[in-house]
Amino acid sequence: MEIREHDIGMVGLGVMGRNVLLNMLDHGFSTAGLDTDAAKARALVDEAKEKPASATTDPKAFVAMLRKPRAIMMLVPAGAPVDAVIRELAPMLSPDDLLIDAGNSHFTDTNRRVESLAKQRIHFFGMGISGGESGARHGPSMMPGGSREAYERVRPILESIAADVDGEPCVTYLGPGSAGHYVKMVHNGIEYGLMQLIAESYDLLKRGVGLSNQELADVFERWNEGALSSFLIEITSMIFRQKDVQSDNSLIDMILGVARQKGTGQWTSQDALALKVPTPTIDIAVGLRDLSGREDVRHAANRILRGPAPTGDFSRDAVNQVHDALHASTILTYAQGMAQLQAASKAYGYDLNMEAIARIWRGGCIIRSALLEEIRVAYKANDELSDLIVAPNMAERLSSLQAALRTVVAQGVERGIPIAGFMACLAYFDAYRSDWMPFNLIQAQRDYFGAHTYERIDQKGVFHTQWGEPLPQSE
Ligand code: 6PG
Repeated sequence: MEIREHDIGMVGLGVMGRNVLLNMLDHGFSTAGLDTDAAKARALVDEAKEKPASATTDPKAFVAMLRKPRAIMMLVPAGAPVDAVIRELAPMLSPDDLLIDAGNSHFTDTNRRVESLAKQRIHFFGMGISGGESGARHGPSMMPGGSREAYERVRPILESIAADVDGEPCVTYLGPGSAGHYVKMVHNGIEYGLMQLIAESYDLLKRGVGLSNQELADVFERWNEGALSSFLIEITSMIFRQKDVQSDNSLIDMILGVARQKGTGQWTSQDALALKVPTPTIDIAVGLRDLSGREDVRHAANRILRGPAPTGDFSRDAVNQVHDALHASTILTYAQGMAQLQAASKAYGYDLNMEAIARIWRGGCIIRSALLEEIRVAYKANDELSDLIVAPNMAERLSSLQAALRTVVAQGVERGIPIAGFMACLAYFDAYRSDWMPFNLIQAQRDYFGAHTYERIDQKGVFHTQWGEPLPQSE
């Protein structure tokens, strides 16, 4: 159907762009699409059927199809393609138009783009979208940041296409500048951490307990009905049931154990270090994806390095312990991401509302889970909460689950099953609750070799000692 003056435009009619547009059409908005590939443009119009959609390969025609002030979303790969679209469209846009980058862009690129387009009085939005193809089509979680005034213009569209939990849409204005892309980056960091922990649970249950794929599917299905209920646990149970069409095996057994990555987990860790926020589970998840890729080295080392061989002698009770260890570690991983967001909010002036973030992550996104409702409640009860770990509902839960995490870590370590994610969670928990840490020794060493000074427990000020010299004799 050809109409002019569409409500919103989309640049990039690949899987995500096309599905977001079809979702908008379902909710009664008229849309225009732009793609360099004429087949993709035609496919969108065909799929839209009677609904008000146009699509073109001509940027000028595309811009002319939109109601002013225009709202244009782009779903193109992060990096140079985003700059290329901006370079092409910006000269044709007018003051007050809004460009939304809905890809996984690095937040510093978003800051640069916001600044440069502001010179033309064009609003630029960085918005994370989570939920993959099916989320885009039927209800994603969206994390927009930029000018609040511009958000109000597209709010009805975003709220109607978002996932819905208890009548609340999984989208809200998050903050100025790159706030939206920052929150999406940390979402992905948490995603890496949770996927690592689920993979380690699989290893413990497969090589430690000796469960078959069928049993694994049943265990994860049962877990999805309780405290661990979440999208990632649900798809994990379905993955174990999938048969391979090319062999008689389960598909999971035919997939190479090398985890790829596009970089958002690494960015999360990098910025956490810059902000001095410990995120050990996310860091280790990135590192182990890297190690999984060093296949040749691992195969060679397997023949040289000695250690216990993983056995299947775990008791059946271990299944429940792994459940509780995963439960505790999931809370600890969310907590690390939330702590990073709180630090970024202060450092970058985002003024994030932590309850709102937990609320829009409850549906539509990859890390959605029943736990996020409890996390939301924790922030609602206290919006000044310094850290999720000490929220009364989480602290109580962690205190009762920590024994299982300890048992699982001990068993994994003894059997040589690499469970670095669980170990990082436990060490984070124990370090976090320590009122004494051995860093008096590090301070002493720093002062010894570099005169870096130290503080004392009994007096204010900084002190230096001539280490190793005899003390002055008292008279
Ligand atoms: C989402 C996901 C998505 C991401 C993939 C792959 O929220 O829908 O986070 O944005 O692209 O999960 O990420 P990696 O290739 O880095 O694993």
